[in-house]
Amino acid sequence: MFAVNVIGLLVVTRAALPHLRRGTAPAVVTISSMSGRRVPTAAGGVYSATKHAVHAIGDGLRLELRDERVRVTTIAPGFVRTAILDDWPDGPLRDRYSERMDSVGLDPDTVADAVVHVLGLPAGVAVAEYAGTAVCQ
Ligand SMILES: NC(=O)c1ccc[n+]([C@@H]2O[C@H](COP(=O)([O-])OP(=O)(O)OC[C@H]3O[C@@H](n4cnc5c(N)ncnc54)[C@H](OP(=O)(O)O)[C@@H]3O)[C@@H](O)[C@H]2O)c1
Repeated sequence: MFAVNVIGLLVVTRAALPHLRRGTAPAVVTISSMSGRRVPTAAGGVYSATKHAVHAIGDGLRLELRDERVRVTTIAPGFVRTAILDDWPDGPLRDRYSERMDSVGLDPDTVADAVVHVLGLPAGVAVAEYAGTAVCQ
C-alpha cells in the first residue's frame, strides 16, 4: 500500500513537475481519502497511514510550489462506488463496507467532476482540499 499510495505518488509527481512548471495554470491533484484525516477502523490502520501521508505530501508540495504558482489540491472522499473492495476477503467487515458503499457511496463521476472543477479554476485560484462527509464505521 505504501509503494502504490505513497511512493507512486512521489515518483509520478516528481516526473510531472518539470512539465507542469511550463504550464499556464499548473495544478497537482492528489486522491486521498477521509481515512487520511482519521483512522476509521482497526483494520484500516495501514491504509489510513498511507492516506495521512498523501495529505502531508500535498501540504508540503503546496508550500514548496507556492512561489511557482503550482496549485496543489487533495481530494478526500468517503466511500466511492468502485471495485476497491473486490479483492477483500469475505467476512463481516467487507459486508459492512459493501453495505455502506451501496448506501452512501459517491458515484465515481462525482469525484472526477471535482478533479475537473479544480483543474478548470483560473490560475491563482486554488482549493486546498475537497473533503467527503460519508461516515465509514
Ligand atoms: N473507493 C472508495 O471508496 C475510495 C474512497 C476514498 C479514496 N479512494 C481512493 O481512490 C483511489 C482510486 O481507488 P478506487 O476506489 O478506484 O480503487 P480500485 O477500483 O481498486 O482501483 C485501483 C486502481 O489502482 C490501480 N493500481 C493498483 N495497484 C497498482 C500498481 N501497483 N501500479 C499501477 N496501478 C495500480 C489499479 O489498476 P488495475 O485496474 O490495472 O489493477 C486501479 O486502476 C485510490 O487512491 C483510493 O485510495 C477510494
